[in-house]
Amino acid sequence: MDIKQIFKNNQNWVQEKLNLDSSYFKNLSKGQSPEILYIGCSDSRVTAEELMGVSPGDAFVHRNIANMVPNTDLSAMSVIDYAVVHLKVNHIVVCGHYYCGGVKAAMQSQDLGILNPWLRNIRDVYRIHKEELNSIEDEESKYKRLVELNVQEQCINTIKTAEVQRAYRDRGITVHGWVFDINSGGLIDLKINYDKIMENVMEIYHLD
Ligand code: CO
Repeated sequence: MDIKQIFKNNQNWVQEKLNLDSSYFKNLSKGQSPEILYIGCSDSRVTAEELMGVSPGDAFVHRNIANMVPNTDLSAMSVIDYAVVHLKVNHIVVCGHYYCGGVKAAMQSQDLGILNPWLRNIRDVYRIHKEELNSIEDEESKYKRLVELNVQEQCINTIKTAEVQRAYRDRGITVHGWVFDINSGGLIDLKINYDKIMENVMEIYHLD
């Protein structure tokens, strides 16, 4: 890829926006009030805004390897805090994707150095759902199911935070678990039973 081309692309994009609305960037610079916090994978094929069809200003975005929400990850925790407490988003989306390299790596017995502690969080998801996953014989189906269960567990990690618990009580914030199917381009709503999860999680993790 020619890096210089990126700046040309940028100028074309600026012009396109200004042709439609001459004060587009002026308005954008006034501030943000996104409705959605999107937590997704860093995978280059899984864009946030593009696959949702939303514009700049619509979604606050956090991406890392395998869309994780580790309890002690300062970056993910800060993003959740800022989005929920200050931007007051009404929806949090954890979006995984099939054919996720991070999830695949966690399914293999291999020392991957600095990635080990990160991928261990996915191995923990496997351990929690070992019975279900071990009963799936087809490797690809097992891999896809782990992607889904990982999304569900990261939704639970999100709900464990005091900020989300308070926003659930005060304004009914909702947490959604989605999977992007790279093979079809479709977005799948896992329809996690949010209220039931909230009830179960709160029994142990209630903070506020
Ligand atoms: Co991925």
